Amino acid sequence: MDRKEDSAFLRKFTGVIVAFIILTVVLIFVARNMQPEFDSDDNPSRGALAEKRIAPVGAVRTGEEGAAALAEAQAAATAAPAATEEVVDGASVYGGLCKTCHDAGVAGAPVPGSELMAAREAEKGVDGLVLSVINGLNVMPPRGGNMALTDEQIQAAVEFMLQ
Ligand code: HEC
Repeated sequence: MDRKEDSAFLRKFTGVIVAFIILTVVLIFVARNMQPEFDSDDNPSRGALAEKRIAPVGAVRTGEEGAAALAEAQAAATAAPAATEEVVDGASVYGGLCKTCHDAGVAGAPVPGSELMAAREAEKGVDGLVLSVINGLNVMPPRGGNMALTDEQIQAAVEFMLQ
């Protein structure tokens, strides 16, 4: 290779390098414009999250303030849990469980409004029917299969069936 060829090669090579640098800069700008820029430091939840992450696991409380906080915590721990209001709604109990068997009369389950239902009511009375459901009757599992149902809820469901 002589000098002429060398310098021709160097010129071409430099041209290629410069072209690549320009392409890189162009790509950087294109990429930056493709996604709307957002300033992550402006995001308020970031700060809150960071605070939460670095918060101490426990705290030592001393003196009067500490004693008061301790008493408060103990009172909260021993306080009776708020009674959850129990919903007694025969239609929803029936619709959520009893219906699966009783709408179609599965395994001889009395269908509401049918003669069989009326006959059972005449035979046992509402209380007797409620008792059957609570204890289960042949194919019907106790409480229709949901042991969480209270007597009142079952009573309401039976009354709903007899409407
Ligand atoms: C797995 C199906 C099934 C489910 C669920 C079910 N039952 Fe029954 N139920 C039956 C069958 C079967 C009978 C008839 C039993 C028999 O006479 O041998 C029956 C009978 C009854 C009777 C008549 C009882 C008697 O003494 O004659 C009542 C009332 C009744 N079911 C109410 C309910 C209620 C209320 C629920 C929901 C809480 C419920 N059932 C859920 C299958 C079911």
